[in-house]
Amino acid sequence: MPRLRLEGLSKVYPGGVKALDAFTLDIAEREFIAVVGPSGCGKSTLLRLIAGLDEESGGKILLDDRELNGLPPRDRDMAIMFQNYALFPHLTVAENMAFGLKLRKTPRAEIVARVSESARMLGIEDLLGRYPSEMSGGQRQRAALGRAILRRPKVFLFDEPLSNLDAKMRAQMRVEIARLHQTLTSTMLFVTHDQVEAMTMGDRVVVLRDGVIQQAADPETLYRDPANAFVASFIGSPGMNLFPGRIADVTGGAAFVHPLFTWRLPEEWRRKLAAYSGKSILFGVRPEDIGSAAARRAVDAPAIKAEIGVVERLGGQSCLYLQASVESGRSADGSAFASRPDDAQGCHAGQVVELPVFAANGKFFDPATGAAIR
Ligand SMILES: Nc1ncnc2c1ncn2[C@@H]1O[C@H](COP(=O)(O)OP(=O)(O)OP(=O)(O)O)[C@@H](O)[C@H]1O
Ligand SMILES: [Mg+2]
Repeated sequence: MPRLRLEGLSKVYPGGVKALDAFTLDIAEREFIAVVGPSGCGKSTLLRLIAGLDEESGGKILLDDRELNGLPPRDRDMAIMFQNYALFPHLTVAENMAFGLKLRKTPRAEIVARVSESARMLGIEDLLGRYPSEMSGGQRQRAALGRAILRRPKVFLFDEPLSNLDAKMRAQMRVEIARLHQTLTSTMLFVTHDQVEAMTMGDRVVVLRDGVIQQAADPETLYRDPANAFVASFIGSPGMNLFPGRIADVTGGAAFVHPLFTWRLPEEWRRKLAAYSGKSILFGVRPEDIGSAAARRAVDAPAIKAEIGVVERLGGQSCLYLQASVESGRSADGSAFASRPDDAQGCHAGQVVELPVFAANGKFFDPATGAAIR
């Protein structure tokens, strides 16, 4: 039985903006769902509808099979933590945390016990007497988190709670929330525009675009088997390279033909792509499948000759951003791509290199619909 069931949830704002379109998802008890998508795709709208802060235009919200539609937020047994978590500036951390329980007329002894338990979980016991202005951003974030968890709701809703933090603090809070999830065993719905955050935290990741679910799957599946070109290029840093080309007959059979390389299709792809013969198509290849040691070892790997535009050195790993070299005289259109070689020492901008493509790991997408061809 799913704990939280969202059935065709939709929201059209006055003025006609369709922010959420038939969002359907079953979320299990204790599951951690990360919803990821670009700015404006409907993430906050989704959480506001679930929390009851906004009214849906259609669809149902069920918690443990109880319909929540129409119930005020306080009767929904959920805690929401916003991007701009507001702590009351004139209250100490302890008072901030206790605020909601006081409103609910919780007995004093229980409030004290719950505040200290949450503070202990988050390692902020020493900060209970401080005012928000006397703490760092990360400490404030933790206090806000403490305020949310001590309500012990069935469902936690997080709206980009980490986006105001610096990179290091964000990584730390990510681990903290994951640990909290293990301890609290509550259902969590976490929305973010950051795919790394979503991929590292979610049991399942839902990719949202213009209010429509693109794919809902575990992180591994999402990465290995994207449902469409949008998911392929959104997930990954950088995302999957999409080479626009066409399927054509060359000597030896059907091939994928792109200005920078030609790949003679193996039998299986020939069959699956029969309907695309002579037509345009998108070929997706992950950066780590271009120029890597595995690509070098691959049999029948086509090679791309291109010019390095930028070398991004990340310590253990490097990423090359390339384009068709000027000398090759080929069109630069659709020829920019990224590569993650195992060793980029000695690579520099302006250099023309020839990189093998591990094409067998590639994916094809329909250029009109973007759907993966499987
Ligand atoms: N009150 C409103 N009235 C009209 N349109 C709105 C309202 N709130 C949001 N929208 C529109 O609905 C769409 C979804 O907005 P939403 O805030 O859910 O996006 P989001 O995914 O949370 O974006 P972000 O990552 O920037 O926070 C956007 O196009 C937005 O402009
Ligand atoms: Mg938002």
